[in-house]
Amino acid sequence: MRKMKKTKITLDENEIPKKWYNIQADLKTPLDPPLNPQTKKPIGPADLSAIFPMELIKQEVSQERYIPIPNEIREIYRIWRPTPLYRARKLEKLLKTPAQIYYKWEGVSPPGSHKPNSAVAQAYYNMKAGIERLATETGAGQWGSSLAFATKLFNLKCRVYMVKCSYEQKPYRRILMENWGAEVYPSPTKLTKSGKAILKKDPNTSGSLGIAISEAVEDAATHDNTNYSLGSVLNHVVLHQTIIGLELKKQFELIDKYPDIICGCVGGGSNFSGACFPFVRDKILGNKPNLKIVSVEPLACPTLTKGEYRYDFGDSIGLTPLLKMYTLGHNFVPAAIHAGGLRYHGDSPLLCKLTKEGYLEAVAYYQKEVFEAARLFAKTEGFIVAPEAAHAVKAAIDFANMCKRKKEKKIIVFANSGHGYFDLSAYDAFNNKKLMDYNHPNGAIKKAMKELPVI
Ligand SMILES: Cc1ncc(COP(=O)(O)O)c(C=O)c1O
Repeated sequence: MRKMKKTKITLDENEIPKKWYNIQADLKTPLDPPLNPQTKKPIGPADLSAIFPMELIKQEVSQERYIPIPNEIREIYRIWRPTPLYRARKLEKLLKTPAQIYYKWEGVSPPGSHKPNSAVAQAYYNMKAGIERLATETGAGQWGSSLAFATKLFNLKCRVYMVKCSYEQKPYRRILMENWGAEVYPSPTKLTKSGKAILKKDPNTSGSLGIAISEAVEDAATHDNTNYSLGSVLNHVVLHQTIIGLELKKQFELIDKYPDIICGCVGGGSNFSGACFPFVRDKILGNKPNLKIVSVEPLACPTLTKGEYRYDFGDSIGLTPLLKMYTLGHNFVPAAIHAGGLRYHGDSPLLCKLTKEGYLEAVAYYQKEVFEAARLFAKTEGFIVAPEAAHAVKAAIDFANMCKRKKEKKIIVFANSGHGYFDLSAYDAFNNKKLMDYNHPNGAIKKAMKELPVI
């Protein structure tokens, strides 16, 4: 009988990593500290304790290389982890590329993306700290539905401020969150001072992640039983997501290979940082100098490719600590592209520092070419990916085509962060030629930078 070639590289449930990887232990110089938004002085744990549980604050600043994953969290991870690593053979064949294309598929989790890797951990530590309710924001609805799922498992209440344009584009995500017991509101709302202030300035705003974050932070700060939960950007979120990269490394070891190119989409940076940081470590240590690690973002919100590396607020109103990151300015409201999870003005400070230091690069694409790539992927590999993940697909295809031109047999892997079954209206718009391309407006950077604090 002909020996069939492997399509999936899988791990056993017992091989779910027992520790997360903290790249802070391997940085050559420490991360610039977050600053208090009023005093502009470095913040301490006490500043954060009004909205985060102490265990997460400790993880935020920890310098330990590995942090144990509590068994209660690993038990829940077993529902969908370890996630499969796929070889996209049919896509390779269609492209006639000598490259090998792999993808790590996070679409198998109950909410359909990588987001529950952190949502479950955050709900757990808040439950342990005696918190009863979590407030959060969501862009595309993936984070909100992941937190709704996780809070249900630990019997916590959950309120989600969902960016208005996504609330309107993705009603099924709202239903999913409500089904897991969360309350969902289109942001900006009239429930918070921040929301009211934004609505007064622009009653027809499509909303943004920055605005929704202001609302959720305010909600947590004004309710004693409530904490805030963020789905990306912060060090502890990125830490939880390293479960992706740790599994990925084991999977490549199983087939005795190591990637040449790793790419993934970046909204706030959590899925891609999680997938690539265990590999970035090899680069920092000097073991893999030629490894290419590439973030992919939308041209409508090109934080890493066009933003400035400096301190900015994480939200629109200026309630959050100032973070050193690439930013388009906290007041920038990106065009209402369908990759709602990539409409964030900043990015993870860890990913930004490593980009600034040259360990990572970044590319940006228009949404139509991204959907074209996702359609090609669906025709060959079957899965309909989330519009965010489609950015990674596009980059992987471009790298595979580059390998074809240069006749190089490189190994490409992309982080495939989630499925797009609740994003079908976006595919419908694309199929019916109703999608528009958007660029970051000329002059917007200069204008936005004027509104940033000078540190
Ligand atoms: C499927 C998917 N991928 C990627 C992202 C981007 O977020 P991050 O950069 O934190 O992974 C999102 C955000 O909502 C998402 O839903």
